[in-house]
Amino acid sequence: MRTLFLAGNWKMNTNSATSVNLAAGLVRELAPIQNVRIAVCPPFVYLQSVAAALSASQIELGAQDVYYEGNGAFTGEISCEMLKDCGCTYVIIGHSERRHILGESDRLINLKIKAAVKAGLKPIFCVGELLEERDNGKTFDVVEQQIRKGLEGLSAEQVKTVTIAYEPVWAIGTGRNATPQQAQEVHERIRRQLKETYGAELAEKMTIQYGGSAKPANTAELLAQPDVDGLLVGGASLKVEDFAAMVKTAAALKK
Ligand code: 13P
Repeated sequence: MRTLFLAGNWKMNTNSATSVNLAAGLVRELAPIQNVRIAVCPPFVYLQSVAAALSASQIELGAQDVYYEGNGAFTGEISCEMLKDCGCTYVIIGHSERRHILGESDRLINLKIKAAVKAGLKPIFCVGELLEERDNGKTFDVVEQQIRKGLEGLSAEQVKTVTIAYEPVWAIGTGRNATPQQAQEVHERIRRQLKETYGAELAEKMTIQYGGSAKPANTAELLAQPDVDGLLVGGASLKVEDFAAMVKTAAALKK
């Protein structure tokens, strides 16, 4: 049995007031929910105030990125220790917006994942194909390679701490989610790859989230898929009622 895991990726949204209000609203709405893992990932500058708003709640905190060096002359970057100092449990690594807008490579993503795991942060490691890659029948190859390169050099023990988020790039922010069948097909392949590399026991325990236009209306059908263990939510995580509705739907599912 895998506990469902819903994480909100706030991306470059909110301000000091709205970030705290959003967090406080979720704390209020979701207080009774104990059977779903919940996290929010605000922009770096609001981590501490959101951490304060979440304190004494079961909702955990994550960051949207991290740098792999410990400290030093890396202007503009944020280290794992800084994130832990701000109360983070999770960190998103390899998001498609960082891969495709900021030009992050598989190698850089691998360095970040290794640093995060060593520091005791739990990575939410994003993978996913472009529309062109899907249309050319390359989805499985692309995702398989991203996973292999991203997790290179990690022991099975370390891989256990990683959540994988399958986020097809064409589904992100477009309103066009992958169908539950499309998501399941890729998740199943990811779990098979994890099994081949790290063994069946580990593969069965790994959480694989889906991300890309996830919203209240499609939450139940996506989470009903056997290998979809949670959601990484962008736009819909910015509204208390939407994200809370999604978590409540997850809590009510018998998986
Ligand atoms: P949307 O839910 O806005 O499509 O974003 C998904 C995403 O990129 C989460 O990381």
